[in-house]
Amino acid sequence: MNTIIVGGQYGDEGKGKIISHLALTDDPDVIARGGVGPNAGHEVNYKGKRYPLRLVPCGFVNERSRLLIGAGVFVNPEVFLKELDLINGHKRCFIDFRAGLITKENIERDGASENSKKIGTTKTGCGPAVSDRVNRIGKMVADAPELKPYLTDVVKEVNQAKNVMVEGTQGFMLSVLYGTYPFVTSKDTSASTIAADVGLGPTKIDEVIMVIKSYTTRVGSGPLKDELGVEAAKAKNMQEYGTVTGRPRRSSPNLHFDDLRLAATVNGATQIAMTKVDIRFPGNDRVREYAELTKEARAFIEDAERKMGVPITLIGTGPDALDIIDRR
Ligand code: IMP
Ligand code: MG
Repeated sequence: MNTIIVGGQYGDEGKGKIISHLALTDDPDVIARGGVGPNAGHEVNYKGKRYPLRLVPCGFVNERSRLLIGAGVFVNPEVFLKELDLINGHKRCFIDFRAGLITKENIERDGASENSKKIGTTKTGCGPAVSDRVNRIGKMVADAPELKPYLTDVVKEVNQAKNVMVEGTQGFMLSVLYGTYPFVTSKDTSASTIAADVGLGPTKIDEVIMVIKSYTTRVGSGPLKDELGVEAAKAKNMQEYGTVTGRPRRSSPNLHFDDLRLAATVNGATQIAMTKVDIRFPGNDRVREYAELTKEARAFIEDAERKMGVPITLIGTGPDALDIIDRR
């Protein structure tokens, strides 16, 4: 059984929370991360502790699972090693030997470039590392001696394991192919690319869970429909701040169904997870049974299911990995 989890909006949909729940309930042998690199910020809240993660899989909360980073991901050794300390993952977290490296020069270039400023990148060096790789001048993880003990063949491992969970990063609207180009990240972020990032072929994927938030946020530049100002967003409890950059996120109180239908189609979504239903509909904090949601919340969820044509099987009702309704 192989499941991919992807973001359906502009990143920050709450994938970390959904993935940590799935890791605990579905007990995968292997949890493999695809996506771009440490530009991602996934937040996991578990047993009273907050874990902001940029590289290491969010599924670490399941202590039995092996944690892998796929060939498609670009690795900053400093970030990786720090996160291993945070999750105590030195013995079970590994990187594909084919993955690319993010160098200090990549980070400097991302910080200094006028175009990066225009796009509002995370300045983590991901874009320059991807472009170096495409230009065939990129550095590889094997060039970093401190990463040597952590290199493995992820392709072999994910194809031999019985039960694999694959974590995507960013969101569909940030895909270099399908998003709001040029205000996008440096790779495609849809499920097919995430599968390729970790070395799983398209015929090996059983489920694609697309995560969306009950409203829309975006960090960095680029279009955002029905954007709220900071004060209006605060009044709705929808003002958020970035996990990686700490930047205030821009927000829109609505779901943008034209975008979401395209996202569901290209991702081949078989299920949708909707997070932060408690923020949009007060009175639903930490609810764990569908029938206990307020009528308004249920009506909103059912309307969204009809509009996207995909069942909403997971519903987030609070920050903890356990604050969730699982209707699968
Ligand atoms: P880059 O990926 O750092 O080059 O940034 C390109 C755009 O994608 C910027 O608007 C970033 O804010 C956005 N972005 C990249 N990764 C994430 C993420 O994980 N969550 C939200 N936005 C992201
Ligand atoms: Mg994030």
